Amino acid sequence: MIASHIAQLLNEQVNAEFYASNVYLQLSAWCEGEGLEGAAKFFRTHSLEERTHMDKIFDYMAECSVPITVDAIPKAPSDHANLMVALKAAQEHEYKVTAMIKNIAKQSFEAEDYTTFNFIEWFIAEQHEEEVLFDKIMDKARILGFEGQPGQALYIMDDYLANVQH
Ligand SMILES: [Fe+2]
Repeated sequence: MIASHIAQLLNEQVNAEFYASNVYLQLSAWCEGEGLEGAAKFFRTHSLEERTHMDKIFDYMAECSVPITVDAIPKAPSDHANLMVALKAAQEHEYKVTAMIKNIAKQSFEAEDYTTFNFIEWFIAEQHEEEVLFDKIMDKARILGFEGQPGQALYIMDDYLANVQH
């Protein structure tokens, strides 16, 4: 039996993962418009990944007979000054998701809901990987001296993002 406040947090996470998926999908669309095909591919793949996170929580809630509500998803930001701004926005978004996941871990542990605590541990590891990924991307940008301006560094960043390991 899952406590109602934990069920609510899980439901919020389902919708947050959906939103994250849309954030990345919209970023991919923005990149397509800018001719950044490597970055577009990176964000598109990431969008699908977020969708699988949603599915994972959805399945867990269904297994535990917790009611699920798919809410209206807010519109994702669609305009970005440049690729660096877009990447920073994505990184900031990951920090927010990490905080939400950690809160579920905290609340489930405090509620002695060790089943949910154990379930959410996978997401803690996943968020760690996401943060490592964006740190790696930011390191690459720093090494290149890339701050969003058009030119060779942008071309290299776009190429790098096409092949970066998720
Ligand atoms: Fe996620």
